[in-house]
Amino acid sequence: MSTMKGVNAYFRQLSDEEIKHQAHREFVGGLWDELGELQLNFLIQHGLKPHHKLLDIGCGCLRGGVHYIRYLDEGNYFGLDINASLIEAGKIEVEQAGLSRKHPTLIVDDEFACGRFGEKFDFIVSVSLFTHLPFNVIVRCLHRARESLLPHGIYYSTFFQAPSPSHLDPIVHQPGGIVTKYDADPFHYSIEELADMAKLAKLELDVIGDWQHPRNQKMAAFSILMESIS
Ligand SMILES: C[S@@+](CC[C@H](N)C(=O)[O-])C[C@H]1O[C@@H](n2cnc3c(N)ncnc32)[C@H](O)[C@@H]1O
Repeated sequence: MSTMKGVNAYFRQLSDEEIKHQAHREFVGGLWDELGELQLNFLIQHGLKPHHKLLDIGCGCLRGGVHYIRYLDEGNYFGLDINASLIEAGKIEVEQAGLSRKHPTLIVDDEFACGRFGEKFDFIVSVSLFTHLPFNVIVRCLHRARESLLPHGIYYSTFFQAPSPSHLDPIVHQPGGIVTKYDADPFHYSIEELADMAKLAKLELDVIGDWQHPRNQKMAAFSILMESIS
């Protein structure tokens, strides 16, 4: 059984009927068009080109994926998610968008086993993933992502920011009104805590901060610590 059961709500599998009625779009947070376009535009502004290989960890039903797939050259989009029903919904979204010819590679995995793709990536992205994960699970994710990053590669991931480490009180984030917690989903993290996670995975943290996210998620960038390359 997956060790993730109970950590967040994404263990629940959507039914075919729910997917038929596009319930998956709300299940991953809604704002379907807005958040899809925002993600792609952010990565383009940060250097994504059609020939790059992109891994989307926690890709869900491809809210961003559909846009990335349209932009990237054939075969350059890779998505991993814990939830098989969301991956199936994503495949339907790709088909309905007329993008099957772009041949995205999508896998279901509950241990962030990015090595299963047999690729190294110029960019890795996670939107609204760390917001649903506890510290030690994020460290696992960062370790696995690092192993699949090209030396010049960057892993962009969003998070809810806390003002200081061990911020035990709930935080109400505006705009959006999302309430985050120190030890329950949705989670918040301080910059110091993110830096600690990065260090544990031999990555360097760069805080991008605001990127116009409608619910005030911030952006972090992780790159390979040069002195850690042997
Ligand atoms: C809020 S949704 C965001 C999905 C997508 N990034 C987007 O922007 O639409 C969070 C996603 O993270 C996935 N997720 C949660 N825990 C995970 C884990 N341990 N491993 C992989 N994916 C996970 C969920 O299944 C869900 O698809």
